[in-house]
Amino acid sequence: MIILDTPIDMHLHLREGQILKDVLPFSQKQFAAAVIMPNLIPPVDNKERLRNYKEEILENSQDFTPLMNLFMREYSKEELSELKNEIFGIKLYPAGITTNSQNGVKSIENIYPVLEIMSELNIPLSVHGETNGFVLDREREFKSVYEKIAKDFPKLKIIMEHIGTADLLDLLDKYENLYATITLHHLLLTLDEVAGGMLNPHYFCKPILKTPKDKDAIQSFVKKGHKKVMFGSDSAPHTIKNKLKGAAGIFSAPVILPALAEFFGDDIDTFQKFISNNARENFNINVPKKEVRLIQKEWQAPYLVGEIKPMFAGKKFKFMVE
Ligand code: NCD
Ligand code: ZN
Repeated sequence: MIILDTPIDMHLHLREGQILKDVLPFSQKQFAAAVIMPNLIPPVDNKERLRNYKEEILENSQDFTPLMNLFMREYSKEELSELKNEIFGIKLYPAGITTNSQNGVKSIENIYPVLEIMSELNIPLSVHGETNGFVLDREREFKSVYEKIAKDFPKLKIIMEHIGTADLLDLLDKYENLYATITLHHLLLTLDEVAGGMLNPHYFCKPILKTPKDKDAIQSFVKKGHKKVMFGSDSAPHTIKNKLKGAAGIFSAPVILPALAEFFGDDIDTFQKFISNNARENFNINVPKKEVRLIQKEWQAPYLVGEIKPMFAGKKFKFMVE
């Protein structure tokens, strides 16, 4: 049996309404807390929307702490001072780069005043780091933007979200204020899963899955237990109908801990740090303690959750969440 102490998902999309009701139980079962992404329509970018959304999550869960993220816009110091204690951070989406990011940031310079305020108030910045260049190069091309913000705001804690490319890993040791989240899919899969055989839209996501070399580099980085690397699933549910229309996002929530347990094998210590301690220590996250147990018993991932097809649908795992 593996006992995990207070697992935290640092990047989670729960959506609203029926989808939220369908997907939230999986995160609640496996995690004590999660950082909740604000890319809804309309985005979570004001007090009322933030409070109502948090309320909806709390009404549909138990023993689960939603750590709310606001959607980046030109906030004033008054607004952020008021909301500071109700949020984890603010999420920056470059305009149009991923699902529901039409209202994102057109030019990073426009939000420099907000970054200044965040730095002063000690509010972390989460970033979807992609340019609009060639699809496989987008993360690497964003590297210079990460370096620029890291240098211009040395006190601002910046999370490079869902990194899938090996090129970004060296930034973690180069800049004290840069951190990273890694998803289950970028850890375990490559572009072959999407386009190597029959086209598989269910593994289409942003940033797109990359090469075996990238995956191997990310795997060995995670296995080394780097302190600034944290688990963030980016579990992003879309109905099958919308996936077939081209929506980006992988719904990984149901299979996270069983899949990670197989990945880490006997190294429970590194598993524990990746799934909880690193995040708690890097960001002083203080949520009620919750023990999650994985028992060694064959378990099969669901084929369908509501109208959503999960990652590894139907696959058999060696561990199940108790
Ligand atoms: C996410 C979504 O569907 O909200 N999609 C994705 O492919 N990762 C948005 C995001 O995190 O980029
Ligand atoms: Zn993203």
